[in-house]
Amino acid sequence: MSYETYKLIHLISGFLLFSIAGGVALYAANGGDKAGNTLRKLVGILHGIALLGILVAGFGLLARLGIGGIPGWVWAKLVVWLVIGGIATLPYKRPQLGKVFLWLVPLLGGVAAWLAVAKPF
Ligand code: HEM
Repeated sequence: MSYETYKLIHLISGFLLFSIAGGVALYAANGGDKAGNTLRKLVGILHGIALLGILVAGFGLLARLGIGGIPGWVWAKLVVWLVIGGIATLPYKRPQLGKVFLWLVPLLGGVAAWLAVAKPF
């Protein structure tokens, strides 16, 4: 697959992850619980697809860029990936954090994008 295709998969998977994280945060902040979510299965599947798509396409991009090993900025992106992945389900346990996640998650996404552009370390 080409660099452009991997990039598109990486970005679309990211958009999907943010859409899931935002939806769950808003739903939980308004008192919704897991059992009452009629789209629970779909959300779980899409969440998994998004995380996998970001990861696989991320490593595909690295290969196309000819970058061997895992540089520091990629480790940092892996941490952001883990944190946002976990945050997407956390509002059920801490609904009061739902409001915070609505701006914290896009900010973390910005950090992940900046790491790819600047490759600071
Ligand atoms: C939620 C987590 C992530 C988000 C929001 C994210 C976002 C982005 C964005 C917006 C870009 C495009 C930057 C640009 O070229 O203008 C990008 C590029 C890239 N990302 Fe991610 N990313 C995430 C996780 C990861 C992970 C886990 C990896 C590694 C496995 C990764 C590897 C890369 C690579 C290699 C590029 C291409 C850099 C280049 O073209 O110079 N990303 N990412």
